[in-house]
Amino acid sequence: MSFHIMGTGSYVPDLIVSNDDLSKIVDTNDEWITSRTGIRHRHISVDETASQMAAKAALAALENSGLTAEDLDLILCATSSGDAICPNMACQVQRDIGATCPAVDLNGACSAFLFLLETAAAYISTGRYRRILCVGTEQMSRILDWTDRSTCILFGDGAAGVVVEPGEDYLGTEIMVRGGDEVLKVPTHVGNSPFSKLEPTHPYVCMNGSETYKFATRTVPHQIQLLLDKTGVMQEQVDWVVCHQANRRIIEAAARRLKGIPAEKFLMNIEEYGNTSAASIPLLLDECNRKGLFKRGDLIVLAAFGGGLSCVASLIRW
Ligand code: UT7
Repeated sequence: MSFHIMGTGSYVPDLIVSNDDLSKIVDTNDEWITSRTGIRHRHISVDETASQMAAKAALAALENSGLTAEDLDLILCATSSGDAICPNMACQVQRDIGATCPAVDLNGACSAFLFLLETAAAYISTGRYRRILCVGTEQMSRILDWTDRSTCILFGDGAAGVVVEPGEDYLGTEIMVRGGDEVLKVPTHVGNSPFSKLEPTHPYVCMNGSETYKFATRTVPHQIQLLLDKTGVMQEQVDWVVCHQANRRIIEAAARRLKGIPAEKFLMNIEEYGNTSAASIPLLLDECNRKGLFKRGDLIVLAAFGGGLSCVASLIRW
């Protein structure tokens, strides 16, 4: 027993910031950002927090599933840019949507949504919970250093999620973790303990872009192939690939290595949203679901990578 996706939902803030807008803030330009990343716009929060966005995405997912908050047995959330460390994101969403079920977070940076699905599948297979809401939400704009042109142009804000119930449509997952913080980290404040001898931190996204790029282009196609081998699915049978939207070139490089999957099967919305971290995969899933792109029975590969470092590939049937 695994799960079936009942419905999807998403929310992005109204403010759309273009590459030209960013060129007024840091030394950059539309040509550089578009050609290196594929990003043209991102939605940026003005007065909404990650938990407020998460609640709106959650309500949309519930409506799309034909459920109310009272029908939920568990809420799982993921964020790297939440409003607070305590209470966790899932507890705030539980309150805001009017649910009464247990609620807890997982921290997995940009791969987090696939860790949520893996956790939901495990809970469902034990019979412990039946209907589980999984939401990734990010207010990346609050953890970016807006003086650092190498990172502030990459990310966007938004939230998205799914509701799952017992079913047979989660077909497998392949997870790899290479622990370390040299390539990508978001340190927390060091605090003001009079006893601490720790150096003050820079509590913003710190990333070695080219190392992250190399990690992603190497591991994403590798994990996808491992997943397909494990589940006995040929590349030619894959209907869609929903990859973490971090850089158009990373997705195109993965497509070149997986020659049996036509490039147009690798779906993208990075142009409009940038990298929304934990929200990235469910945001694209929701967009495609609402467009009616996915047909019942479609085989969809989900692939994520990010801070940890981690790389996760999962196979679902729509
Ligand atoms: O979900 C989290 C995972 N994160 C990622 O997946 C990010 C992965 N990495 C990347 O997407 C790419 O490495 C970047 C888009 C971040 C950078 O692209 P790149 O082709 O690796 O550029 P680079 O870092 O090697 O920089 C090339 C040049 C440098 O100038 P010099 O030293 O060659 O003169 C940078 O200073 O581009 C410069 N540069 C910029 N120029 C204009 C860096 N950022 C900018 C910018 N605008 N925003």
